[in-house]
Amino acid sequence: MKKRTLIGPFKQLLPMTGIKLKGAISDHELEIIEDGGILIEDQLIMAVGNFKALAAEYPEVSTTVLNGNHVCLPGFIDAHTHICFGGSRSKDYAMRNAGKSYLEIAHAGGGIWDTVTQTRISSLEELTKNTIKRANRHLKNGTTTIEVKSGYGLTVSEELKMLRAIKGANEQALPELISTCLAAHMLPKDFEGTEKEYLKMISKELFPILKEENLTHRIDAFIEQSAFSADDIQAYFSKASEMNFDITVHADQFSAGGSKVAVEFNAISADHLEASTEKEIALLAHSDTISVALPGASIGLGCDFTPARELLDAGAALAIASDHNPGSAPMGDLLTQASILGTFQKLTNAEVLAGITFRAAAALKLEDRGKLEAGLLADLAVFHSDNYQDILYNQGNLKPCMVWKNGALVFDRHK
Ligand code: NIG
Ligand code: FE
Repeated sequence: MKKRTLIGPFKQLLPMTGIKLKGAISDHELEIIEDGGILIEDQLIMAVGNFKALAAEYPEVSTTVLNGNHVCLPGFIDAHTHICFGGSRSKDYAMRNAGKSYLEIAHAGGGIWDTVTQTRISSLEELTKNTIKRANRHLKNGTTTIEVKSGYGLTVSEELKMLRAIKGANEQALPELISTCLAAHMLPKDFEGTEKEYLKMISKELFPILKEENLTHRIDAFIEQSAFSADDIQAYFSKASEMNFDITVHADQFSAGGSKVAVEFNAISADHLEASTEKEIALLAHSDTISVALPGASIGLGCDFTPARELLDAGAALAIASDHNPGSAPMGDLLTQASILGTFQKLTNAEVLAGITFRAAAALKLEDRGKLEAGLLADLAVFHSDNYQDILYNQGNLKPCMVWKNGALVFDRHK
C-alpha cells in the first residue's frame, strides 16, 4: 500500500519548473505558487498545486498542516565537495592569511598532500563516520544531495578506501551522496614515475574495480600547473570515456586551460573557472558542459570569484557548489556562499536558486530532482518566511525549518 501525504499550505512554493537550463534568468521567470501544497506518494512528488484544491481532490490522504508562513523550495544540491577527508588544514589557512599563497604552501609540503597524509592514516570507519557527520550537517542547511570526491588517497588501495567510505556513508547519511573518483588530484609525492605513468596506472588498475564494485560512474581531474596538464590528461580521459564514465573537471582555477579539455571531452561539468577569460566563457557557453562556480574556494583562499555574471550572460548553464574541503574551502555552507556569490557577481535570486537546484542537478546528470514536479523525488527545503527573497537576503543565516528527503521529514528545527 502506497503512503500518501499532503503537505502545506506554503505561503509560497517555488517549483523551479519552466526555466531554461542555460543563460541568464530574471526573477519574473520564477513561478510562485501562493498557498501551495505538495502531495507525496512514498518517495516521490505526486502533485504540486494549490493546497486547498489538492485537499479537495484527495480527501482521503493524511495531511501535514503547517502553521505560520512557510516557503518551499526543492532540496538543494551541492554538486562539488571533498567532505571525505582526515585531519584539518587550519595551519594552511593561517599561513595563507599571513601572506603565503596556496601554491607556495603546496610546494612547501602543505596543501593537498598534507590532507593525503592525514587521510591515509584514517581508517575506513573514521572516514565513513566523518563523512556522515559532515553530510548530515549540510542536510540541516537544506542540502539533500551531495557530490563527494575521493582524491586524498592517491594510490589504488587508498582511493578505494575513500570511495568505499563514501559508499558506506551514503547508506547511512540523510542526504544522498554521489561519489566521484578524483585520483587525478595531484601526482602523489611518493609515486616513482611521471604524471602520465601515474594516470596510466590508475586507469589500468583502479577503473575496472570502480566498475566491479559499483563505487562511482564519475571521473574528475585537476587540470592545473600544480597538478596535471591538458596533455597529461588526454589518455586518462579517453580511457574513462571508453569505459563509459562521466567526466568532470577541476578547470581554470588558477590558470586557464582545463575548461577547453572539459568541452573537448564533453564533460558533464567544468568546475572552479575563477581564471576563465572571455575565450573560455564563450567555449563553455556554446557547450553542453555545465559551469560550476565554487564561491567557497574564493572565500577560503581570498581570491576572485568565478565570473558567474559573464558566464550567464554568454549563455552558460551555471551551477553553484560549496567545494567543501579542508584546504581551500573549509566553511562548507552552500547557501551562505551562493548568496555571497550573488552579491559580488550581481546574480538574480532566480539565477542563484537555479544554481543550487535544477542546474546543480544537471551538473550531476540527475534528472529525478532539483524541481518540484510530479514524478520527481520529494526533496524539500522549507523556510519559515512569507517571502522567498528573505532566503538569499539573510545570506545563509535563515536556515530551513524543515527538510524532506525522498518523501520523509528528516529534519524539523521545531523538534
Ligand atoms: O577544489 N583545486 C583542487 N582541489 C580542491 C582543493 C583541495 C584541497 O586543497 O585540499 C578544490 O579547491
Ligand atoms: Fe574541488
